[in-house]
Amino acid sequence: MKKILVIHGPNLNLLGERETSVYGTTTLVDIDQKLMKIAKEKNVELVSFQSNHEGAIVDVIGKARVDGFSAIVINPAAYTHTSVAIRDAVSAVALPVVEVHLSNIYKREEFRHQSLIAPAAVGQISGFGVESYVLGLLAAIGIINER
Ligand code: DQA
Repeated sequence: MKKILVIHGPNLNLLGERETSVYGTTTLVDIDQKLMKIAKEKNVELVSFQSNHEGAIVDVIGKARVDGFSAIVINPAAYTHTSVAIRDAVSAVALPVVEVHLSNIYKREEFRHQSLIAPAAVGQISGFGVESYVLGLLAAIGIINER
């Protein structure tokens, strides 16, 4: 069975209580449960990882191939806009990476309009709330099933 890694970046552990007007009341556990259900239906194994630490995210991306993953879905959160290290890890890993965001980053403050990760990703889904993750996962599954 093919494996997909879902990475949640900094502060996403606080979903459900964090800026609910922007991010809604769904918790990270709710999101993971929803994704696990879809993965099961599609015969894919899903592993979820959350970290508030840039280096920990770089480490996990860097060993994703060796760990047997076929694709990555990532919400890099605030590191989207700052992290050359995560972008380089995405470029280095040679796996399809789908970037997702709950909010529409282009509708928000100007500093969120740039993603350093997007040029290294297959594509980006932004602004659909939890559905961004669902669409991102379905995109990743589509890609790995074509391979
Ligand atoms: C986010 C958008 C980022 O700008 C922000 O820093 C986040 C969450 C989103 O999912 O909408 O933490 O990635």
